[in-house]
Amino acid sequence: MTRLPAGLCLAGLLAGCGGTQSMTGGGGLQGEQFNRLFTLFMGITGFFYVLVIVGMLAGIAIRGRAAGTERGERLARTALLGWIAAVVLGLTVLTVGSYASERRVSAAIPARPPLEVQITANQWWWDITYKNAVPANELRTANELHLPVGVPVKVTLKSNDVIHSFWIPSLAGKQDLIPGRVNDLLLLPTRTGQFRGQCAEFCGTQHAHMALDVTVEPVASFRRWQQAQLAPAAPPSTPLAQAGHDLVMSQQCASCHAIAGTPASARFGPDLTHLASRRSIAAGTLPMTRGHLYAWIADPQGVKPGNNMPYIGFDSAKLHAVVAYLQGLK
Ligand code: CUA
Repeated sequence: MTRLPAGLCLAGLLAGCGGTQSMTGGGGLQGEQFNRLFTLFMGITGFFYVLVIVGMLAGIAIRGRAAGTERGERLARTALLGWIAAVVLGLTVLTVGSYASERRVSAAIPARPPLEVQITANQWWWDITYKNAVPANELRTANELHLPVGVPVKVTLKSNDVIHSFWIPSLAGKQDLIPGRVNDLLLLPTRTGQFRGQCAEFCGTQHAHMALDVTVEPVASFRRWQQAQLAPAAPPSTPLAQAGHDLVMSQQCASCHAIAGTPASARFGPDLTHLASRRSIAAGTLPMTRGHLYAWIADPQGVKPGNNMPYIGFDSAKLHAVVAYLQGLK
């Protein structure tokens, strides 16, 4: 068997460290600090790795010649003292580096940030509520998180069923969502862009399809997004969409989903008020397109087996009407 050189393996691993879901992406304060610490730890541990190898080889080379002589004793003593000094210095730098990172994060993010988002995990999607969006108005969405750049945010994490883990690698580290418990995560996005979050705790068959689209944007466009999301659903604009609206209201759809401004107000499934404004459907499983919406409603268990969306049994004409209505929910 041919063995791959270690460098090639490392290059292969690091090739995964890119794109919208990356620990080296550096889109948030913790992500940036993590990056710096990772580089520092890799540098220092790499240095010690080389030092140990070189020390062993040098030891072997001079052992036979210097063993038992005064010069050998002196050499061994110097090597030991040098080794202790290097270890103490290395550990000190790592400790100070970790402490400084921790301080930088806690100094930049207040304990009560101006924005609070509550995220509830479900098998297998994210229910998102902006608590202090506009007083007296609750902003509820699903599977897509928008954050203003440079504004600290407190994410409150809950679970409705099993243990999940909230992780947007570019922004910050992981935090578990545990049934019966409320966890917090403080974030500070530092760069605009689109990122991807992913459930990081195995939570059932569709764990891999429990993603989160994240948009970090300037404060003004975040406010515009917020205002648009707070508006009730757009009324159907064509006869086909009207037929779809009527089907959604009269069939099972309305017994699980909410669409603000319509009689549908159930909270069991994702809120659909502005469904068509999102980048993907079924928690990042498929990009938001007409065809994918059609496929999802036609056969939800075929697309994402085990999820709670039932087969409704719409024929093709009804599917077209429902999709036309949903596509109007911008
Ligand atoms: Cu939720 Cu894995």
